[in-house]
Amino acid sequence: MTLKILVTGGAGYIGSHCCKLLAKQGYAPIVYDNLSTGHRGFVQWGKLVEGDIRDKARLEAVLAAEQPVAVMHFAALALVGESVCHPERYWSVNGAGTYALLEAMRKTDCNNLIFSSTCAIYGKPDKLPIDEGAPKVPINPYGASKLTAEMMMESFDRAHGLRSVRLRYFNAAGADPDCDVGEDHESETHLIPLILDVALGRRPEISVFGNDYPTPDGTAIRDYVHVLDIAEAHIAALDHLIAGGETIALNLGTGRGASVSEVVAAVESVTGCLINKVHVPRRPGDPHELWADPMLAEEKLKWRAQKPLEIAVEDAWRWHQMRFGKEVCKEGGGRRM
Ligand SMILES: NC(=O)c1ccc[n+]([C@@H]2O[C@H](COP(=O)([O-])OP(=O)(O)OC[C@H]3O[C@@H](n4cnc5c(N)ncnc54)[C@H](O)[C@@H]3O)[C@@H](O)[C@H]2O)c1
Repeated sequence: MTLKILVTGGAGYIGSHCCKLLAKQGYAPIVYDNLSTGHRGFVQWGKLVEGDIRDKARLEAVLAAEQPVAVMHFAALALVGESVCHPERYWSVNGAGTYALLEAMRKTDCNNLIFSSTCAIYGKPDKLPIDEGAPKVPINPYGASKLTAEMMMESFDRAHGLRSVRLRYFNAAGADPDCDVGEDHESETHLIPLILDVALGRRPEISVFGNDYPTPDGTAIRDYVHVLDIAEAHIAALDHLIAGGETIALNLGTGRGASVSEVVAAVESVTGCLINKVHVPRRPGDPHELWADPMLAEEKLKWRAQKPLEIAVEDAWRWHQMRFGKEVCKEGGGRRM
C-alpha cells in the first residue's frame, strides 16, 4: 500500500522539492497549502488541498479522510524583516498555525511530524560551528515563532506521544536539476536568486550588507545547503519516525560557511557574468557568521549534505533562466566577463 504524507506548504520552494522526492521514493504526497507564497504549478506529484494552516477543522477533516502516516510541515511565513514589522502575522501563521496542526494531528491520531525549523532559533551564536545544544535566543519574531513551534512539539510528544523530527535548516539553495520546480519568491530575500537576478538583468546590482566583518574577506558567512540534500534529510527523518525512532531536533547544514563575496564569485564563474556589487552598511542584528555542526544529523539519520555550493548555483542558474528569461547579462548589473 502506498503511504500518504500530508505536506503543508508543499506548493512552496522546499516543500515542492520534497514532494518530488517523496513520489520518487514511492510515497503519495498530499499538499495542503493556501498558495499565499507558493505556486499551484509546483504541485505535480499528488493532489492539492487548498486550505489555511490555521483552519483546524479543515486540517482535521483532511487528516481523518486521508489517514497519512506522517505530516511534513513546511507551511509558514519566512521573511525575517517582515516578521519585525508585522510580528502578528508570524505568531498567527507560524505559531497558531502550528498549534492548529498539532491539535488536528492529536485528534486524528496522526503521530509522526517532520518540521521545517531554522537556524534563526539560535540568534547570534557565541560559538561556531552551531550545534543543537547551543543557546536558543532568537533575535526576531520569525525565529521566535519557530522556536515556540518546536516547544509545542516537545510538549505534545511528552503528553501525547506525537513524535517529531525538527529539522533546523541553514540556508536552502539550488533547484531541481530537471527544472520541474525551483525557487520563486515574490519577495525574494535570498542571496543566490538575488545575484542571479543581476546576471539576468532583472536587477541593477546586488547590495552587500557589510564588508567590515571579522571574516577573511569582510563579508558575512552563511551555510548553504542544496534543497535536494534537504529533501533527502526529510526522507531519512520519515524513515526514522516510521521505524519508531525518537523525537529529535537536528541541524541541516554542510558544516562549512561561504561568504557573500565567495557566493558572488561562484555565480560569476557559473554564469560568466561580472556582477555589479554595492557595499552598504551592515544590517542591524545580522550575525557575521552562521554555520552548522551537522554531526548529529549524520549520527541519527545517516544524512550528510552531498552537494557543494557550486552545484547549488549551477542548478539555481538553470532554473532561474528557464523561469525568468534568458536575457543573460544584457542589461542591468551583469556584463559578460
Ligand atoms: N528557504 C530557506 O532557506 C529556509 C531556511 C530555514 C527554514 N525554512 C523554512 O522552510 C519552510 C519552507 O520555506 P520555503 O523557502 O519553501 O518557503 P515558501 O514561501 O516557498 O513556502 C511556504 C509555503 O507555505 C504556504 N503557506 C504560507 N502560509 C500559509 C498558510 N497560512 N496556510 C497554508 N499554507 C501556507 C505558502 O503558500 C508556500 O507554498 C518554511 O517553514 C521556512 O520557515 C526555510
